[in-house]
Amino acid sequence: MVETTYINQSKKILLLGAGELGKETIIEAQRLGLTTIAVDRYENAPAMQVAHYSHVIDMLDKNELRRVIELENPDFIVPEIEAIATEALIDLEKEGYNVVPTAKAVNLTMDREGIRRLASEELGLLTAKYKFADTLYELQTAVKEIGLPCVIKPIMSSSGKGQTVCRSMEDIEVSWNEAIAGGRGKKARVIVEEFIRFDSEITLLTVRSVSGTSYCAPIGHIQKDGDYIESWQPHHMSTEQIEQAEDIAKKITDALGGFGVFGVELFLSEKGVYFSEVSPRPHDTGMVTMGTQDLSEFALHVRAILGYPIEGIRLLTPGASHTIKAWEESKNYQVTGVEEGLSVANTQVRIFGKPETKVGRRMAVVVSTGDSVEEARKYAQTAASKITVSYQ
Ligand SMILES: Nc1ncnc2c1ncn2[C@@H]1O[C@H](COP(=O)(O)OP(=O)(O)OP(=O)(O)O)[C@@H](O)[C@H]1O
Ligand SMILES: [Mg+2]
Repeated sequence: MVETTYINQSKKILLLGAGELGKETIIEAQRLGLTTIAVDRYENAPAMQVAHYSHVIDMLDKNELRRVIELENPDFIVPEIEAIATEALIDLEKEGYNVVPTAKAVNLTMDREGIRRLASEELGLLTAKYKFADTLYELQTAVKEIGLPCVIKPIMSSSGKGQTVCRSMEDIEVSWNEAIAGGRGKKARVIVEEFIRFDSEITLLTVRSVSGTSYCAPIGHIQKDGDYIESWQPHHMSTEQIEQAEDIAKKITDALGGFGVFGVELFLSEKGVYFSEVSPRPHDTGMVTMGTQDLSEFALHVRAILGYPIEGIRLLTPGASHTIKAWEESKNYQVTGVEEGLSVANTQVRIFGKPETKVGRRMAVVVSTGDSVEEARKYAQTAASKITVSYQ
């Protein structure tokens, strides 16, 4: 392979996780002249299709992780997912590697326990009541303390995997089994949370950069079975709610440190703004920013990481996103109806190019804009209803 001098001299960014969010991050990194490397546990992952180089490894294996990082010697290590052997990143940071935003942030958010304890026990943020359990017996005791209904989740999982709402004592065993089957980590451990009857939920994208901390307009979203279906920006909030939300976001992101975008997930309820969780990286509901902002969450992430200034973030228009999911398992699929979907006004589509479908797997996203959030949501919903995943 012939390499240009330019590529040889440019800084290297290595992404751990090569899904749709990583793909957009890589594209933005290339726009600023970086050499890009994508790593994931399967071949031909979305971000690998656009990265300069890629590796397929088990990212939960700390020796494999270290081997690839030492081989590539990147200037920036950027985790895109939670299921990584984060303890290796702590050591690598001590040895001089730059882990984005910080190894501490990545380690604390790797599972639900570290971040929840930090938010609630150290920073005093309002969260749902919670307990942890390692056995079915402990879970039964924990559920009695938290009360019904409650939400039971594996401590390490994402996109709602292994998560159930437990409504009666008879449900507990089913919830336990779901959590154990859906969890990513090696240990069988779950969190039980009080069920919050929120009015709405938002992601507050928070950017820490050399210019200080700034916030994107709040993104409202709807989740089904713990996974996001629709998001919109801006989400209407009172001045008091915005102040509370920004205060929570500032505290939690200051505690995590480093430069980059954070997705702060919050529940808005009569009792106030609850902290739910935070991703120290762009957020799936934030894909709407590809249509609404002058700099998308991916562009902001890369710019912040590189230490470039970010003087204010401009929301150009109201917008909405809607996911397109697969409902069967197949290596032979097509995203169909794109032409019909794109005949809806102000609408774009991003097809991720995942090599295979799985039940409930997100395969594409529609992003629409409008004069109002209502109009943008209507466009995105209409377009998404025309685009489907079909199997051969
Ligand atoms: N305590 C709770 N009370 C009410 N609803 C909840 C609670 N916890 C989670 N949910 C609902 O489930 C969704 C997913 O939960 P959570 O964000 O904890 O899981 P996740 O698997 O990490 O999701 P993702 O990785 O997609 O953000 C939340 O966005 C919310 O809609
Ligand atoms: Mg979440």
